[in-house]
Amino acid sequence: MTHKKIIVFSLFLIFNLSCFVGFSSEIIPNPDSRIFTIGEFILSNKTKINYSDNFKISGDFLKDFLKIESKLDKYSNQINFLNKDINNEEGYILEILEKNINIYSKTNKGAFYAVQTLRQLLPFQLENDKSIVKEFKVPCQIIKDSPKFKYRGMHLDVSRHMFSVDFIKKYIDALAMLKFNTFHWHLTEDQGWRIEIKKYPKLNTIGSYRDSTLVGHYTDKPIRYDKKKYGGYYSQKEVKDIVAFAKSREVLIIPEIEMPGHAQAAIASYPFLSCEQKQIGVASTWGVFKDIYCTRESTFTFLEDVIDEVMDLFPGKYIHIGGDEAPKNRWKKCNDCQNLIKSEKLKDEHELQSYFITRMEKYINSNGKKIIGWDEILDGGLAPNATVMSWRGESGGIKAAQMGHEVIMSPNANLYFDHYQSKKEGEPIAIGGFTPIEEVYNYNPIPKELDENDKKYIIGAQANVWTEYMNTSDHVEYMVFPRILALSEVLWSSNRTNFIEFKSRAKKYFKRLDKLDVNYSNHLEKEETK
Ligand code: ACM
Ligand code: ZN
Repeated sequence: MTHKKIIVFSLFLIFNLSCFVGFSSEIIPNPDSRIFTIGEFILSNKTKINYSDNFKISGDFLKDFLKIESKLDKYSNQINFLNKDINNEEGYILEILEKNINIYSKTNKGAFYAVQTLRQLLPFQLENDKSIVKEFKVPCQIIKDSPKFKYRGMHLDVSRHMFSVDFIKKYIDALAMLKFNTFHWHLTEDQGWRIEIKKYPKLNTIGSYRDSTLVGHYTDKPIRYDKKKYGGYYSQKEVKDIVAFAKSREVLIIPEIEMPGHAQAAIASYPFLSCEQKQIGVASTWGVFKDIYCTRESTFTFLEDVIDEVMDLFPGKYIHIGGDEAPKNRWKKCNDCQNLIKSEKLKDEHELQSYFITRMEKYINSNGKKIIGWDEILDGGLAPNATVMSWRGESGGIKAAQMGHEVIMSPNANLYFDHYQSKKEGEPIAIGGFTPIEEVYNYNPIPKELDENDKKYIIGAQANVWTEYMNTSDHVEYMVFPRILALSEVLWSSNRTNFIEFKSRAKKYFKRLDKLDVNYSNHLEKEETK
């Protein structure tokens, strides 16, 4: 080794092995305000963390993250979780003084987000360091922060492809780190039913598996299949474990049980659910399928039973009932469906869909829960208490907001993370579209068309991750990161900067993602143009 190399190598060792690292920090999503003061707090294994039961989730998280011993007879300084009547229940003040770090919040949610911010003030090496904390300097400062939107969501389709329980937890963990509070879990589809339903076991023995999967893109010719059985489902025990994990990350899970369309796996399991009542298979290709739930009484009995089990598993107030992409071909030719149109004095099959959704809403409301549906639930009349998820652009969301309904914006042009993010050669196959990170960063969930009074109905936004073309968790991560960083800032930050500045923080954030073993894509170096 040359002399110069030895010096460089020694510096490298000092940087990596020294437990006394000075650093400057970057925060995503950008907080409301940050004021530096004089001095620094020295975080070490002599730091004591104090919290009462109402801050247990946040206190435990911080303790686990820092690997600080619980019982300290002698301590040098303290981190205190303190109750303060802050306006926003997810807001917080993080006050770093020389002798104390004080976290002020009204609820554990605020405290949890303060901890996620504090985490970013610490060296990224800590993200997967198994050793006990030695010493880190944290510059004294005061951060005041609160979210811009109350609904901050990420979706994942586990039906087109399924992912392990460990990956679902990793995904939820990443959401929480970026201050998302909702995980929309898309559990049923034409290509696979992924949640255990004890009353209808064939949903899992039959509906959870397909015989084969399309190879390549949907539009490729000739069409090819891999002829391999594919599938699986989450047992109720696993679902409970995931729900408990999400709670420890202040993430609410919204389960989606699709109806009346995207029901082919259910119909393959129980043919009585369809108009034609014929045996069909679980779908092995992608797209929109004609066999949807019939509107016979037996379908409603089935769906109410399914929803009963789902409601028992998920403590949150929302059940997503889908509602999208339900072709009416079968209903038009079905005596039972046509008779119902007549007896209920409905105009057409669109009103029949509205009848279907409204009836399920009544059942779900009577159990103290609320429904969310894709914007097609506006067709034929919106169910009275429904929240609308606007995906075919923003027009459905605008209409729903003007009717006084809550809206979650998820327009496909801006927030579909299954779209391509780069035009560079060699990108992995995607469904189509082009949604680069800049598009996500510049998205504003509040449409200009809405007047002041109606803007309040836009409760937030969500990105969707449909997995037709993502058959590994690595690929999901590649599509989600770093676009999720941009979305976190859209949803959380009132204090927006600009894309160039954001990019410099995002690049630094990559070091943290490296430590977390996240397979992010990196298209930040070269400007992408539309
Ligand atoms: C959807 O993308 N079909 C909601
Ligand atoms: Zn029918």
